[in-house]
Amino acid sequence: MAKKAASKALADVKKKFYITTAIDYPSGKPHLGHAYEKVCADCIARWHRLLGEEVFFLTGTDEHGSKVSRCAKASGKAPQKYVDEMVVYFRELCAKLNISYDRFIRTTDSDHVKISQEIFKKIYEKGEIYLGEYSGWYCDECETFFTEKDLVDGNCPTHGKKAKWVSEESYFFKMSNYSKRVLDALEKNEKIVLPEGKRKEIINRVKEGLNDLSVSRANVPWGIPVPMNANHTQYVWMDALLNYISGVGYPGKDFEKFWPANIHLIGKDILWHHTAIWYSILMAAEIEIPKTVFVHGFINTESGEKMSKSGGTVIDPVALSEKYPADALRYFLLREIPFGQDGNFSEDSMRIRLNNELANGLGNLLNRTVTMIEKYNAGEVPNAKTNIELRKKLDIDGIKKHMENLELHHALGKIFSFVHACNQFTNEKEPWKLDGKERDEVLYSLADSLRMASILLQPFIPETSEKISSQLGLKLGLLADCSFNKLKAGTKVKKAEVLFRKLE
Ligand code: MSP
Repeated sequence: MAKKAASKALADVKKKFYITTAIDYPSGKPHLGHAYEKVCADCIARWHRLLGEEVFFLTGTDEHGSKVSRCAKASGKAPQKYVDEMVVYFRELCAKLNISYDRFIRTTDSDHVKISQEIFKKIYEKGEIYLGEYSGWYCDECETFFTEKDLVDGNCPTHGKKAKWVSEESYFFKMSNYSKRVLDALEKNEKIVLPEGKRKEIINRVKEGLNDLSVSRANVPWGIPVPMNANHTQYVWMDALLNYISGVGYPGKDFEKFWPANIHLIGKDILWHHTAIWYSILMAAEIEIPKTVFVHGFINTESGEKMSKSGGTVIDPVALSEKYPADALRYFLLREIPFGQDGNFSEDSMRIRLNNELANGLGNLLNRTVTMIEKYNAGEVPNAKTNIELRKKLDIDGIKKHMENLELHHALGKIFSFVHACNQFTNEKEPWKLDGKERDEVLYSLADSLRMASILLQPFIPETSEKISSQLGLKLGLLADCSFNKLKAGTKVKKAEVLFRKLE
């Protein structure tokens, strides 16, 4: 009884981890940039599950506003019908890439609409939102107002599209009241925005002061109605950002459990929205701000250019995941691009990594190990201990440290150095020339090492991890199982399909 109560108490204190991606505009099909963000967030979420933490992982779509409504119009559909059709592609992307979200939020979900209105009303009733007149330069693409000096030759600094002069009645949020508090928060906590360069960048921008923000539109009917005035809809960012709290059940138990978010994972173009605007809204609503906003880099084309629809350079991740194993794409994205920096995507480079590291490296190691155990030990893991020299080649503490510091590429690199060391160990020991205890030690070492690799690789290439552990006759373990010599002698291995086929 006492034991049961103790284990329940332990479960109650399980560490919580809440991670979000930005929610995508379903104004077109998802591109590789959307896939990249989801894969990175998924890797981090899976890592925290592996640590035994209780994880909530939120992703979804940002469905209101003039941009989506323009696209719906162009396709001759009502906005709701249009987003209902488009969201299918984003869900399909998640399914193809094994994105293990706990909720896929749509900003048209009724609970989100209700919470957005409640927060708007709460801030209005505090006197922090007022009715005024707005005039300014507006970019329809990013749904953002700019000052004259932000524009580049009259164009949006992000999209290069002509900004238009908009003048209309609007509700304003007194964001200027939060300049000091936002700046203090950014300056006080080194981890609040990562990488560090991005924190510096945003501090410098916030130092210039925050202006009041127009938070309603009188001429955009496709949006959440402003609760106190049905002629207005909420500005799309005033609706979208709130997904991070509505998506985790604000103001209920799950929200209490998981908030503040541990990581908002976003691209560099929306850092302002996720710091200056989001912190101010949360401060006005008297809600704690998130712990970390992590800014990942952009995926560009092979030649380093920005993907663009008009230039025909948009890379379709669903098409890629049909042509290559999903894990090959995940592996490439997580290994090739230093997390936090920009990177280029090239199918040729992906194929090279697939052939060399996944097929020749990992796949070959598994294949050799299982084949030899079948041949020399009737398919049963021999009774031995893992070779001490080989054990030294796996830097588990280093991998943990890299994951803690969100250096996903380094963590994956270290796991693959170990895979490489295991192949080298096999070549050096030549177990096919050995027998007795010596051969047993090599075979046990390889199977035990692959078991460890399958645990560590789960966040990165989850399907492959499952396949490895199933060929080793095991269930996938947690990080707590990731120490050597835990593999039981006599475990029955079973050879199956090769992990990765080499491509020309
Ligand atoms: N809807 C807003 C986000 C609202 S969050 C409350 C939005 N949508 S988006 O579809 O334009 O972008 C979604 C995410 O994808 C953003 O984090 C954005 O930075 C990221 N990316 C867009 N293009 C990208 C690349 N080429 N590479 C990597 N990520 C990129 O912004």
